[in-house]
Amino acid sequence: MYEGRTAATPGIVFGHENLGIVEDVGAGVTAVHRGDRVVMPFNVACGFCKNCLAGNTAFCLTVNPGFAGGAYGYVAMGPYPGGQAEYLRVPFADFNCLLLPPGTEHEADFALLADIFPTGYHGCELADVRPGESVAVYGAGPVGLMAAYSALLRGADRVFVVDRVPERLAKAQQIGAIPVNFEQGDPAEEIRAQTNQEGTDKGVDAVGYQAQARTGSGEEPAAVLNMLIETVRPTGALGVPGLYVPADPGAPDEHARHGQLLVSVGKLFEKGLRVGTGQANVKRYNRQLRDLIIAGRATPSFVVSHTIPLAQAPGAYQKFDQRIDGYTKVILEPVAV
Ligand SMILES: NC(=O)c1ccc[n+]([C@@H]2O[C@H](COP(=O)([O-])OP(=O)(O)OC[C@H]3O[C@@H](n4cnc5c(N)ncnc54)[C@H](O)[C@@H]3O)[C@@H](O)[C@H]2O)c1
Ligand SMILES: [Zn+2]
Repeated sequence: MYEGRTAATPGIVFGHENLGIVEDVGAGVTAVHRGDRVVMPFNVACGFCKNCLAGNTAFCLTVNPGFAGGAYGYVAMGPYPGGQAEYLRVPFADFNCLLLPPGTEHEADFALLADIFPTGYHGCELADVRPGESVAVYGAGPVGLMAAYSALLRGADRVFVVDRVPERLAKAQQIGAIPVNFEQGDPAEEIRAQTNQEGTDKGVDAVGYQAQARTGSGEEPAAVLNMLIETVRPTGALGVPGLYVPADPGAPDEHARHGQLLVSVGKLFEKGLRVGTGQANVKRYNRQLRDLIIAGRATPSFVVSHTIPLAQAPGAYQKFDQRIDGYTKVILEPVAV
């Protein structure tokens, strides 16, 4: 949206990762009260449709007619302004608010429950990461780091994290993952070399369609899917929380502009790999991940690089967009008016 590759127009209020204090509640709200500290899944969901009842709240059938799934501040994801603002309206608040302990403790950890911690966890769930398995995570952005962290929480024995941004690879190493710089060699070859030529048991794509080609020639939307197919061992599984879109006017070729990518399906079949993808059903995991934070067993805020007032957001967006100055994850603090 920031790069102008969607139908978003100026005036859109961004912000799908929201934590705050309840200022007021509507007549239909019973479980949430003024003064409560709450964090909202980025998914806006009803709680009673077929998909919500099955736990697939990222694909709610109620909140965005004609489309399965809603989100705050997202073009095509429904009429819900985002939270990079002083106030946020939360529909179906009883269902969408996760209560947090009062006070300000763990604020940065809890803020990450809105999206990236559950999304990284979802990547591992889609790949069915189990104790004692090896995992390759492509992308050391916020989602990739959270996927690696979640893989370790789930008991993975070795987690490789592939990227090229030094500060991000350093964060991966800091949590006990093995960094692999894709500009210094073929990451699939490198990871196979470190796994007896077998490949990892599981893989997570935390990059999506804006994947960079290894050759430095710019975007190559299918690059990470194809690298994962090379990296994961036969009969393994891929979790793909990285975003792919049905239309992208900024894509490098005509097929990709219509969401069609050249993926090595033959190799995928030959290796008997399973693939799971889609938006994360945040509500499926956020309560449990909150309790891990409260218990001191998870501290996802290690990804947060900056905390700044909302007024400084434009400059931070620029730097984040260029992946410079260590802008990994930024917390914006609006001042209540
Ligand atoms: N499924 C969901 O619910 C969900 C939720 C949040 C984000 N996402 C998606 O997850 C993806 C990652 O999000 P993010 O915030 O971490 O983004 P990000 O852009 O900050 O991180 C992506 C990282 O991938 C790296 N990268 C680029 N090409 C690569 C390659 N070929 N191999 C390895 N690494 C490569 C980049 O250097 C960057 O550090 C995005 O596509 C985002 O839209 C999905
Ligand atoms: Zn629903």
